[in-house]
Parts: sequence; C-alpha cells; structure tokens
Amino acid sequence: MLLPIHLTLYVKNKKTMSVVRLYAGLIINPLETSSAAPHLDYIPDGCLIVDEHGTIQFVGTLTDATMRFAETQIQRFDNAVILPGLVDTHVHLPQYQAAAVGTGELLEWLNAYIFPLEARFVDEQYARVQAERFFRDALAVGTTTMSVYCSSHKIATHVAFEAALNAGVRVCMGKTMMDTGAPDTLLSTPVQNIQDSMELATRWHGADGGRLQYTLTPRFAGSCSWKLMLECGNVAKTEGLRVQTHLAENPSELAFIAELFPHAASYTDVYEQTGLLTEKTILAHSIYLSGEERSLLKERNCAIAHCPCSNRFLQSGVMPLRSMMNQGFRIGLGSDVAGGFSLSMMNEAREAAESSKTWNILHRGGELPALSAEEALWLATLGGAQALGLGDTVGSFKVGKEADFVVVGLDALMPRDTVFHSYPNLAARLVYGTAGMKVEHTFVRGKELYRRGDSVR
Ligand code: GUN
Ligand code: ZN
Repeated sequence: MLLPIHLTLYVKNKKTMSVVRLYAGLIINPLETSSAAPHLDYIPDGCLIVDEHGTIQFVGTLTDATMRFAETQIQRFDNAVILPGLVDTHVHLPQYQAAAVGTGELLEWLNAYIFPLEARFVDEQYARVQAERFFRDALAVGTTTMSVYCSSHKIATHVAFEAALNAGVRVCMGKTMMDTGAPDTLLSTPVQNIQDSMELATRWHGADGGRLQYTLTPRFAGSCSWKLMLECGNVAKTEGLRVQTHLAENPSELAFIAELFPHAASYTDVYEQTGLLTEKTILAHSIYLSGEERSLLKERNCAIAHCPCSNRFLQSGVMPLRSMMNQGFRIGLGSDVAGGFSLSMMNEAREAAESSKTWNILHRGGELPALSAEEALWLATLGGAQALGLGDTVGSFKVGKEADFVVVGLDALMPRDTVFHSYPNLAARLVYGTAGMKVEHTFVRGKELYRRGDSVR
C-alpha cells in the first residue's frame, strides 16, 4: 500500500516570521462560481500555506510558494490529491445506527425505525457515545462541515455539541423540534421547544470562533403545529439564525401536509406563511415543487440540500437537479443518514450524478446535461458551503478562508499509464470510488483530525 510522504515541519514566513505550514500535492480547487456553472481548477504541483490560526495564506504552485517563503520544508502529499473538506448539508445524528436498515417509504419508515431509535437519545450516556462515533466516522470519510439534526432532546443536543467541539468538526446543528405526529416521548410544547432551542443557541451558536453554529430545526410540517412553526419563524428573524427542515420529499408526505393545512396554497406556502423561508433556510429534498413554489423559494433565496441516496433508498423520487441548478439555487449535497445509507459524501456525489441521468431516462425528449463527476464534486464542497452560508469561510482554497481539507491517496485511483489520464477522469474516479477511495488525512483549520490507520487526537 502506498502512503503519501508525510513530514510535519514548520517554516517561517520571510515577511512576518509567523509560523506557517505548507502542504504540497495535486490540488483540486472548486472555482468561486454558482451552481449554474460549477467548475474545478487543478494545480499539479500545488501548495497551500496555512498560518497558525488555520487560515489560508497562499494557494498556488510549490515553486511560487518556495520563492516567497524562506525555508522550503513542507508536508508533502505525493501520489495524492488535496481537496476541500466535504460538506454534508443534511444529516440526522440519532439515525446513524439505522443506516442501510429498513424498508418502506418515508412515513412508514419514520414510524417503524426512526422514531423508536431517536427516543433512545433520552439517555445522555447513550447520546454521548453515539455522537462521538458519528463525528469520528464523518471525519474518516473526509467530511469537515455538517448540517446536523440532533434528536428532540435538549440534553442529547448539548452532548452532541460537546462531541463536535472535541472532534474538531465544523457543524451547524440543532435540536429537532416536534410537537405533534410522533410518539409522545419525542414531543414537547411549542413554548418548551423554543425555550430549549434558544438556551442551546445561547450556549453554542458561534462557539470556537464560529466553528459551531446553532440551527433552528423544525423537523417538517408533518410534526410541527402551525403555532410552533410560527414561533420558530419569529425567532429565526429576530435572532438571525439558520433554519433547516424537510420539503416536498415524498408523494404520501405531500398528501399528508395538504390534509393538515388545507388553507395553505402549497407545502412551500406552509413555510412561507409561518415565516420559515429566509436566506438562511436550508430545505432538504425539495423534489416535488410547482413552478410557483420554486419561484417563491428563489425569491426568498432559500438553499436546497439535495439528498439523492436517500431519495432512492426511501423511494421518494428523482429531483430535477439540473433545472434547479440552472435556476441558480444554492444547492449542496446531503447524506440524510439514515434515509441515505452512508456518511460518505463521495457516495452522495456519485449518486447525484447517477440520479441526474435517471431524471433524463424518465424524461426522454426533455433531457438536460447530466451532472458530471466534476460538478458533483463542486456541489459536495463549495456548493454545500454556499448553501450553508459558509461560502466565504470554507468550501474552496482561497486566501483568507479557513484551511479545511482532505488528502486522498492517488495511485489506487488513477494508474499512471492509462490513456484515460486526464483531470476530469481523475475527478470521475474519485467520485465513483473506482479502485476504492482512501481518505488519508482530514484537516480542519489546518489541524489534522484524522489520519488513516491512526487516531491523531
Ligand atoms: N421528514 C421528516 N423527518 C424526516 C427524516 O428523519 N428523514 C427524512 N428523510 N425525511 C424526513
Ligand atoms: Zn432528513
């Protein structure tokens, strides 16, 4: 097995003499575009320079870097690619144990498998063990930023924040709010839901220099009363907090919501009327939307968490990804574990590409360009960061951004003597996991949090 050459050395910046770290290898860098035109840049002998705060000071070639910096000691990743940390815009921590488990569509699956599992998070010790494992496993597959639904328990959410703080991962996370439509042990009143959420937000929002952020998390209109959604919408506005919820995922769910809220013009209108649609709102799935609903979401500048593995696993449907990208939505990818079966965002990227082909198969005559592997990688990195409002902080390599990145072993991905040797093909083999994708190292703010075969923390 080939391992990247691994040296931990420090150099001094000629000008400031502050301690910096240099990382060298083949860099894949998402360009700062929108989902309407996602592109990747490649720097063959690339170099990242990161200061002691974990902020990127330089991105470019190794030659240029060594000219600007006095000493040329570097952490070299030969036969590897360096890419931005992967961003999971939608995932349920308390469902991790159910990954790949269960059958049936959304509403039956929630009742049969998910609610009983989430109820176990009333036990603080169990919640702690699960949270620690969840973040450790996410870092091991290269995920550095996650938008997380915790269980509906305040203490379990607090414990999850503690676990994220210690793991070093970047999170936007919240206690799932529910006051109806689930077993009583998972419910609390609107007042209690808001009070618990605000106490957690006061403690955790912005912790560790903004690495940990609080997200208001009304589960979906099927488990929240009008009153709870209204109060949540008010708090979102007054406190300027993110909101995450589910929208238009499954035909039975759509019928259920229409029955619950007959006065609303549509599923999207339920969230519109309760004030939940803001530029800090991330809507998972969003498969079955009318033209009016899409226009409204666009007007409100809401972001979309596209969850193609889950959309297939739960037989929910096929999202019209390309047309939503063309419409200019901010779109990231979400594992939606345990609707999705794995924490790996490379799986999700692959499924996003395959799912867009499925859409074409189902719409012969109206085909749109299928999502390429490079575009899928863009969505899994910068697209996700933009969807979470973190596009100025992470998601690509740019001076001033924080140095969240992943190193993936290269030889297994791309035999050197193949006629298919090209950067787009390299990205394709990365996304499709051909010959096995191996995350060797995961860094957040320049700090190594995972090294394959080793626990570095
Ligand atoms: N809709 C409401 N709750 C859930 C959930 O936990 N998973 C998915 N996929 N959809 C939901
Ligand atoms: Zn979900």
